[in-house]
Amino acid sequence: MNGSERAHDGKVVLITGGSQGIGRGIALTFARRGASVVVHGLTADYVDETVALIRDAGGTAIGTFGPIDQEHTSTDAVALAIDTYGRLDHLVTAAGIQRYGDAVDTPIETWDEVFGVNVRGVFLAARAALPQIRARQGTVTIISSVQATATQNNVVAYTASKGALNSLCRAMAVDEAAYGVRVNSIAPGSVDTPMLRTSAAEWSDGTREGVERTIANWGTMHALGRVAQPDEIGEAASFLASDAASFVTGSELRVDGGLLARIAAALPTKD
Ligand SMILES: NC(=O)c1ccc[n+]([C@@H]2O[C@H](COP(=O)([O-])OP(=O)(O)OC[C@H]3O[C@@H](n4cnc5c(N)ncnc54)[C@H](O)[C@@H]3O)[C@@H](O)[C@H]2O)c1
Repeated sequence: MNGSERAHDGKVVLITGGSQGIGRGIALTFARRGASVVVHGLTADYVDETVALIRDAGGTAIGTFGPIDQEHTSTDAVALAIDTYGRLDHLVTAAGIQRYGDAVDTPIETWDEVFGVNVRGVFLAARAALPQIRARQGTVTIISSVQATATQNNVVAYTASKGALNSLCRAMAVDEAAYGVRVNSIAPGSVDTPMLRTSAAEWSDGTREGVERTIANWGTMHALGRVAQPDEIGEAASFLASDAASFVTGSELRVDGGLLARIAAALPTKD
C-alpha cells in the first residue's frame, strides 16, 4: 500500500456538488482513501445515489441537499458533519452551473444566478466550514475552470464567476495560512459529466451520436486528445487535501490535458 491509498483515513470531507459529475468523482476518490464523506447536491435523488455508491464500495458517507446560494444549506451541511462524525477536515466546492451568453444577451437574472451558485455558494460554504477546518488545520479546494484563465465565445457570466473564484482562493489562502489551513483551486479542462453532456446536446443535433461526436471533438482540443473522467479530478483534489501537498497553498492546479498549454496556431506539417 502506498501513502496515497489511505491518505484521508480518519478525516471528514464535505463536498458541495458531490452528488454528480466532478463532485461525485471527488467523493468516490476521498472515500476510497478512507475519508468519511458528506455528500451535498441540489436534490436528494442524486445525493442518495452517490452515498449508495460509496457505501456499496465499503466507504462511509452521508448526504445533504439544498440550494448552495442559500446560507442554511452550508450551515446545515457542516452541522451534519459535526453531528455525525464529530469533525470536519476538508471542504471541496464542486457545485456549479454553466450558462451561455455574451454581455448584451445574458439576462441580468442569469448573471445573478451564475454568481449566486458559483461564487456566493463557494463563499457561503467556506464561511460555514472554515471555523471547523481551522480547528483541524485542514484544507479548502475550489473547483474553478480553465475558463478563469482563457475563454471562448458566449460565456461571460460563467467565465467571470470562475475568475472571481481564483481571486477568492488567493484571498482565503493568505488569510487562512495563519490558522494552518491551505486553500487551492483546480482548473479542469473538459470533463465527462452531466454538465458537459448537456452542453454537448445544446451545441450538437442533440442525438446520442451527435453528443458523442461533439465530446470527442472537444477532446481533440486538449493536447492529450480526449476529455477527462471525473476520477481524474478526484485524484487532484485528493492530492491537494493530503499531507503530500503540505507546502501548496494559493495555487491553481490545472488538470486540463494540456488544453491551456497549446496555442491555436500550428506550424505547417513537413512533407
Ligand atoms: N464538466 C466540465 O467540463 C467542467 C470543466 C471545468 C470546470 N467545471 C466545474 O466543475 C464543477 C462541477 O461541474 P460538473 O461538470 O460536475 O457539473 P454537473 O452539472 O455534472 O454537477 C453539478 C453539481 O452541482 C450541484 N448543483 C448545481 N446547481 C446547484 C445549486 N443551485 N445548489 C446546489 N448544488 C447545485 C449539482 O447537484 C451537482 O452535484 C462546476 O463548478 C463546473 O463549473 C466543469
